[in-house]
This record gives sequence, structure tokens and C-alpha cells, in this order.
Amino acid sequence: MRVLSGIQPTGRFHWGNYFGAIRQYIAFQNEHEAYYFIANLHALTTVRDPAVLRGYTLDAALDLLALGLDPNRATLFVQSDVPEVSQLCWLLMTGTNLGLLERCHAFKEKKAKGINADAGLFTYPVLMAADILAFDSNWVPVGEDQGQHIEVCRDLARSFNHHYRCEAFVLPEARITVDAAKVPGTDGQKMSKSYDNTLALFEDQKQQRKKIMRITTDSRPMEDPKAPEEDHLFQLYRLVAKPEQVEEMAALYRRGGFGYGEVKKALADAAELYFADARARRAEYEAKPNEVYEILADGAGRARKKAGEVLRRVESACGISYRK
Ligand code: ADP
Ligand code: TRP
Repeated sequence: MRVLSGIQPTGRFHWGNYFGAIRQYIAFQNEHEAYYFIANLHALTTVRDPAVLRGYTLDAALDLLALGLDPNRATLFVQSDVPEVSQLCWLLMTGTNLGLLERCHAFKEKKAKGINADAGLFTYPVLMAADILAFDSNWVPVGEDQGQHIEVCRDLARSFNHHYRCEAFVLPEARITVDAAKVPGTDGQKMSKSYDNTLALFEDQKQQRKKIMRITTDSRPMEDPKAPEEDHLFQLYRLVAKPEQVEEMAALYRRGGFGYGEVKKALADAAELYFADARARRAEYEAKPNEVYEILADGAGRARKKAGEVLRRVESACGISYRK
């Protein structure tokens, strides 16, 4: 299968991004032909400071490589390095019904909040469809929140094929990572950069420890037995601790008579260990940015080859290539 997914460089990646998305995407590289890209054109709908966008883009590449994305197995590229995607976007845009885009939640939510949405945000699902269709992608691993966009992509592909009576586009399938952990943030709500409750993946260890020690907890007496599954500290611990440690901790919760301070300390220790290899790998890549640029250039080259083939097929189907 050809698998493709993208992630926006709109901030530093956090545990929610990793355990909820990135980890699953990377796993596909072992069994499938995988394409992963950093969606910097999409990020323009929110990040409008050039230095910040540049920084997040390189950080995203470093993080993905550090977390185990293997450029020899998967193709890693930056969206804007593959102009065929933007060209394809226009070809799709011309057949896109406005009502379809008005129903998309990212736009609807902004509008409902009274925030002025621009045409970029409005047409975002079309660019996302181009991202996917440009590679004849079969599977698109995404979080639940992106399911609607894959449906839009399928709609656009189907209606193009139907209108031009061709098979120019391969219909992709969403692989929704439903069993992915809903990672709680430091305040117990869903971890999200919009709630300012994140544990970033590669932040300074001392700072991370401080953040963990400040995670909100309930105020039930220490002696009370507690159900581990319902506690967000435990939910975080479960992600980074070894299975036997998780079992021990669960038993401690059920027995009661412990302090949250101990759990927080255990969580900070386990997190350091869990991410130690990735942290070391990130430091190595950070020290040789040229190697990272080369990986991205090589990825873009491979991606352009595939996207070019698809673009030519589509241009021929709709009459853009006009020479007989
Ligand atoms: P944020 O909410 O911080 O803005 P994004 O929307 O950029 O994060 O997240 C990118 C992807 O990471 C999402 O599509 C989703 O699959 C995953 N993700 C983000 N936060 C979480 C979380 N707390 N738990 C599980 N998955 C998450
Ligand atoms: N919209 C996705 C998100 O916000 C990122 C994305 C852009 C994407 N293009 C894509 C994901 C194509 C999968 C396939 O998370």
C-alpha cells in the first residue's frame, strides 16, 4: 500500500502529537511505501511570521527524524518543495462545490467564533486533497478530527473521475487511529497547544520536570484508593513507563496511601528514559543541519517524481495539456 500523511509545523510537537499521531504514522514505514510531509503551506493559514515558520519547519523535520522516521524507508519532504501539489490543487479547485467547503469544521468553527477566515482556510480541504491525490495514496493515517477532510478528498476525486470519464485519481482511504491515546494535558483536558497545557517532546529536561511537578491533581486524601484509569497523571505515566512499572503503579493507586508527588517524580523519570534515544538522535541531527536539508531535498526529489506522473495524467484528462 502507498501510505501518506502530513503534519503542520504550527508549533513544537507535544506528547499528544506523538502518541496520538506521529508514532502510528512512523510505524507504517516498515510495511508500506510511505510518504510523510511537513505541511508548511497549510501552516500559512495560522503562522504569519516568516522566522517562526522557518523555525517550526526545521524543528518538525528534526523531531520526525529523531522520533524514528527513517529516510531510507520513507520519503520525507516539505510540502512547498513539491510544486506539483499546488498545481494539482488548482485543477481540483475548479470543480469544488462551495457548499462542500462551507460544511468543513475548521472553517465552520472559526466562523462561528466570529474570527475572520481567509480564502486559504476556506479552501484548505482542497489543498489537503491535492496532497493526498498527488501520490495515488491508498491509505491516509490521521486522527479522528481529519476524517471529514478525507471524505472531501474522496468526493473531489470521484467527481473529477466522473466528470472527465477517467480514472485519473486513486480513491484514498482514511486509516483513523481510533485506538490512539487521547493524551491529557497538564491540566487534565486534552493536550493541545491551544490550551497551553502541553508537554513538548524535546523541551529542556529540567523545565519538563518542573512542568510535570505542577500538573494539576485532585485533592482527595492520600489514603483513599483511586481508580488509575481515571487519573490523568496515570494516563501520562502509562505512555512512557515500562509495562511492569505501569502494573505496579496501578496497584499502588488501587491500594491508596500514596502521594501524587511520588507519581510525578516517577513520571518525569520514565519520560526521560523513554525519550532518551530520540533526544540523543535529535542532538546529532541538530549538529548537522546540512544533512537534514539533504534528506529533505532527496525526499522532495522522489516526491516530485511521483507527483509529476500524477499531474501529467490529470492534466491530460482535463485538457490542460493541449498538444494533440
Ligand atoms: P494541537 O491540538 O496541539 O493544535 P494539532 O491539531 O496540530 O495539535 O495535532 C496534529 C495531530 O496530532 C492531530 O491530528 C491529532 O491526531 C494529534 N493530536 C493532537 N493532540 C492530541 C492529543 N491530546 N491526543 C491524541 N492525539 C492528539
Ligand atoms: N490537515 C492535517 C492536520 O491538521 C495535516 C495535513 C495536511 C494532512 N495535508 C494532509 C494529513 C494530507 C494527511 C494527509 O493534522
